[in-house]
Amino acid sequence: MALILGIESSCDETAAAVIDGNGTTLAARIVAQRIASQDDAHRPYGGVVPEIAARAHVEVLAPMVEAVLADAGLTLGDMDAIAATAGPGLIGGVMVGLVTAKALAMAADKPLVAVNHLEGHALSPRLADPSLHYPYLLLLVSGGHCQILEVAGVGQYRRLATTIDDALGEAFDKTAKILGLGYPGGPAVERLAREGDAKAVPLPRPLVGSGEPHFSFAGLKSAVMRAKDAGIHTDADIAASFQQAALDCVVDRTRIALGAAAPGMTALVVAGGVAANAALRGALEALAADHGLPLVAPPPKLCTDNAAMIGWAGAERFALGYSDPLDVAARPRWPLDANAAPVRGAGVKG
Ligand code: KG4
Ligand code: ZN
Repeated sequence: MALILGIESSCDETAAAVIDGNGTTLAARIVAQRIASQDDAHRPYGGVVPEIAARAHVEVLAPMVEAVLADAGLTLGDMDAIAATAGPGLIGGVMVGLVTAKALAMAADKPLVAVNHLEGHALSPRLADPSLHYPYLLLLVSGGHCQILEVAGVGQYRRLATTIDDALGEAFDKTAKILGLGYPGGPAVERLAREGDAKAVPLPRPLVGSGEPHFSFAGLKSAVMRAKDAGIHTDADIAASFQQAALDCVVDRTRIALGAAAPGMTALVVAGGVAANAALRGALEALAADHGLPLVAPPPKLCTDNAAMIGWAGAERFALGYSDPLDVAARPRWPLDANAAPVRGAGVKG
């Protein structure tokens, strides 16, 4: 067994997991995991409030680590390493998790592995599907990121595309806000979309047809706002039409990226919170099949933020001999591909 304690605290979920990096099935790999969502604390504000998030992590995390070790029937001394998200994310929350991991590593004299949250998402499909091998083409779609990357191995990422404005999850969340569906928005939009007509509201498909596979969703969000203000269509028709427009963009952009990727990709992979969306998974399945590739997507619970993916990324890193010093810094920004060129028209997102 290669036992790793994983900790995640970069946004609004506090999570801890015990991972066996040598397990050969998903069930054997996740020895125990716990997650506490802060949805109720943030709901009145319609989004995540960083200060509230950080304070909630402080209250919940240490007892959660004790509880998850008890669930596993193990102690800190049984762990081979402690892995925690060190960024990117809301810096207060990241610091709570990283400092906790440092204290545990110091107290138990264990190696520390500082994990990039995005690498957690990027490798989560390998946690779920032991037959997934490098290299693969990854569509990473979450609340803060929307990228397409070649994943050639641990720490080996080449970014082919990113968003020039909003992330896909952000577009779902803003649409939910416009329609008064509350927070978190993505699952609510998906549910309402099932009751609507996806052809009812004419909405733009930004960047569709462009030769580079980048994304843009700000114009779509503005169009959703105008459609709502016009008062002609039902909310269900707006939700369905929005989701269809967003998925048309994702499929078109991913098709371009499949054409631009290096030869030898073994699979099309989707990860990150929005990968929990069933309509997105269906659309990508068809696209992957067109290219003779399997679509690999983790189970929905491993798509949204969790500590199993952080423990797993820690296990992959630790198996390769990587660990980090106790003075490793928390990083609000931490791109997977540090060499990616800035995109014309883009803001500051990494
Ligand atoms: O990966 P994640 O849990 O947190 C980040 O690292 O951002 O992703 C959260 C995002 C949110 O924007 C949420 O609305 C979206 O994923 N999301 C969904 C669904 N489930 C979560 N979007 C669309 N459909 C869903 N079923
Ligand atoms: Zn995430």
